[in-house]
Amino acid sequence: MCGIIGFAGKEMQVAPILLDGLERMEYRGYDSAGIAVRSGERRLQVKKAKGRLQVLLDLTHGGADLEGTLGIGHTRWATHGEPNDANAHPHISENGSIALVHNGIIENYLDIKEHLVKLGVHFTSDTDSEVVAQLLEYHYNECRNMLEAVGRVLRRIEGSYAFGIICSDYPNALIAARKDSPLILGRGENGNFIASDVTAIIKHTRDVIYMDDGEIAVVTAESVDVFDDELIPVHKKHHKVDWDVSAAEKGGYAHFMFKEILEQPEAIQKTVSPRIRNGRVVLDDIKLTAEYAGEISHIYMVACGSAYHAGVVGKYVWERLLRRPVEVVLASEFRYSQPLVDEHTLVITISQSGETLDTMAALREAKRLGGRTLAICNVVGSSIAREADDVLYTWAGPEIAVATSKGYSTQLAALDLVGLYLADLLGTIEPAEYNAILAELQALPEKMRRYLADYESTQYFASRYFNHSSVFFIGRNLDYAMGLEGSLKLKEISYIHSEAYASGELKHGTISLIEPGTLVVALGTYGPLFDKAMSNVVEVKARGAEVLAVTTEAFREKMEKTADAVISVPETHPVLQPSLGIVPLQLFAYYVALQRGCDIDKPRNLAKSVTVE
Ligand code: G6P
Repeated sequence: MCGIIGFAGKEMQVAPILLDGLERMEYRGYDSAGIAVRSGERRLQVKKAKGRLQVLLDLTHGGADLEGTLGIGHTRWATHGEPNDANAHPHISENGSIALVHNGIIENYLDIKEHLVKLGVHFTSDTDSEVVAQLLEYHYNECRNMLEAVGRVLRRIEGSYAFGIICSDYPNALIAARKDSPLILGRGENGNFIASDVTAIIKHTRDVIYMDDGEIAVVTAESVDVFDDELIPVHKKHHKVDWDVSAAEKGGYAHFMFKEILEQPEAIQKTVSPRIRNGRVVLDDIKLTAEYAGEISHIYMVACGSAYHAGVVGKYVWERLLRRPVEVVLASEFRYSQPLVDEHTLVITISQSGETLDTMAALREAKRLGGRTLAICNVVGSSIAREADDVLYTWAGPEIAVATSKGYSTQLAALDLVGLYLADLLGTIEPAEYNAILAELQALPEKMRRYLADYESTQYFASRYFNHSSVFFIGRNLDYAMGLEGSLKLKEISYIHSEAYASGELKHGTISLIEPGTLVVALGTYGPLFDKAMSNVVEVKARGAEVLAVTTEAFREKMEKTADAVISVPETHPVLQPSLGIVPLQLFAYYVALQRGCDIDKPRNLAKSVTVE
């Protein structure tokens, strides 16, 4: 949610580098974009524009219009103030000496703004971020030391932030600060960076430093220095990113989402294979002991969006394997619900980005209450990964499309691994069942590839149904859990109204919405309840629904007798079936959105990393 970048270069022109970085981070927000460059004669040049980055690229001729080797940039997902030119970042202080980009929300900005207005400061935007630029000028005028001024500002503001700041008095340095919003520092051969995400700078360097909350960094072309909130120098560890720029590029595909859907078999393999040794799940990264596992009385799975849907699948699987109550709660609800957490509660937070603010807050609340936390995360070094007691990384690689695919399916695989691991520790699973699930988990990538080798019918059905204005996904048990994600995929990228219902609930209300021609996506991949799923298909057919069914190869023939269209996937162990069943639903959503001419990788109003509440 908003992406920031900054570069202090030795000789290289900064503007094209900033614009390239912003393009790679556009998934974080695309309401407006802007850059500020310090050029000779102490001048800060700012260019910003409402709309996609392309507008800014055109406006600056790809950055050629701004000369200088030091600068900052921003891509915005609007929170305070409508998306327009004035509210776009960077924000400039009144005398033009300070430029600032911000990701996050300043909660007490109105109080500060009121105070500054009384002092005669004029504002040009409606944003909370401009208030920080103006406050910074005020403090800088007092102390004439930028680092000191930033320290003073941070003591006055409340909320979340990652800042990038340049000042006309400092020709070589940019300043960065973070609290509750992601920010990394990158050390490159031709200069040094700040960025919200590795993706923005991976082309230039894989040597990164993760900033912690409360830290301030001073970055020049030659040096990167980090200070704590008392401005005392901090020694920081360097990390080497283990993927390269090609992983974050489209590589000839029309959309990142399509590429990422196709990458799922490999991503699952990378997540699962290193953790299975001699027929057992081995989780070296997890310190959770058998003794602690034995004392777990209650398990929460807490997450947002698709990660929450992964949790819903996880609940069905874990309750079956662990015989312990598992509650799945939306992170935004969990944090304010006075959850019943004590030292015998295991709280699983699931987050692809590891930066989702509500999930982060839920994790902190769980820790505050004495619970044990385990994060399932895709981004190494992200805030959630660093704060949880244990972390299990999904090795999906960078995910760029706003609508997740490989992020979600590797979360399912990670939940299967931890579920098996805990069931084994607890002795709640029969050896035969353990072995069967484990074997099928390892076979998942191959089975997924089998479906992906021939998905033409899914593409065809998308072209047949893309004009429907409303769709219902129905299923029972794990099919219902999978339907939640299938429905979200469709609505977020194609803008078609869609709902997922537990089939058994249909007759308690929703069936009244079924009329001749209504499209129902009936999910019948979960073997134990297939016959019941069929009865629901018959019910909606009887009311005139058009039924597109997703089932397994084994049930295909039966399903074809009733449904209008059938897609089948290979069969696996019932608890793993959603990992295969979700793929046609992702592709269906993709092709429907394509037919409707939607902006698939950047759907309207959404952002990938939601770092505001
Ligand atoms: C956003 C993304 C979703 C994602 C959700 C949670 O809404 O568009 O794809 O599922 O955030 O993100 P997380 O990074 O915590 O998994």
